[in-house]
Amino acid sequence: MSAHILTEREGGVLILRMNRPEKKNALTRAMYKAMAQTLTQADQDASVRSVLITGGHDCFTSGNDVADFLQAPPDGLNSEVFMFMQALFDFSKPVVAAVCGSAVGIGTTLLLHCDLVYVSRDATLKMPFVNLGLCPEYGSSMILPRLLGQAKAAELLLLGSAFNGEQAAAWGIANQALHDSAATIAKAFDMAQRFSLLPPSAVTDSKRLMRAPDREQLRQVIAAEGELFSQRLHSPEAREAMTAFMQRRKPDFSNL
Ligand code: COA
Repeated sequence: MSAHILTEREGGVLILRMNRPEKKNALTRAMYKAMAQTLTQADQDASVRSVLITGGHDCFTSGNDVADFLQAPPDGLNSEVFMFMQALFDFSKPVVAAVCGSAVGIGTTLLLHCDLVYVSRDATLKMPFVNLGLCPEYGSSMILPRLLGQAKAAELLLLGSAFNGEQAAAWGIANQALHDSAATIAKAFDMAQRFSLLPPSAVTDSKRLMRAPDREQLRQVIAAEGELFSQRLHSPEAREAMTAFMQRRKPDFSNL
């Protein structure tokens, strides 16, 4: 287990908290592994009725640890990040997210696989994959154009434009934007708790039906995105973008 992933039980709700505040909850391989294991165990534990994912009051997550991307890039289907993606994709029970502060990269794309999402109004969400020399991941290249239309999805995925909690709710990425982080976490917890009062198999059967129509296509898209993403991590474009982030300078793609 990673020291940066905290879990807590409140009745039927398992709270999974990303807790690496000094790095804005940037996700390391150990954190992905711990989250994947937590989800897999929670799926098998009948007393868990829902999972709440949060990063606490200040930051959801700044996405994959950029230093990890540079030093030990994930290698496809055996990587910890893929294990996490798979575990969330296959999770049979409801997952609720409480998003405060920044949600970058996988911090935004993982929301597309949660059942309910609550976000603070001033949260900042963005998917700067292209900006980092990468490509969309975790099904976002399929889900977002369908949800938002090609034009809006292009702003978010090709330009990497940021958006706030109110926009996330207006566009259907989140259920509701709340006025501050305390209200966001309280609302998400309240909604997660509601599942404890419902008949559990009716909930999981219904979730499965809701997700079934696109499921196999989405699985293939996630695999194809993952393959390209892994290749792009080794590209000169990605090396320059990520090195520039670590060196706190603007990237220079003019000679690439
Ligand atoms: N990977 C590794 N380190 C990260 C990180 C990441 N994804 N996000 C933040 N950090 C580190 C910073 O390098 C900094 O470390 P330092 O104090 O040792 O210098 C620390 O976390 C604080 O980050 P900082 O950028 O100073 O905070 P901020 O409040 O100004 O900005 C963010 C917060 C999240 C907007 C900004 O850090 C950011 O854009 N992060 C990168 C996001 C990203 O590109 N993720 C990958 C997506 S695929």
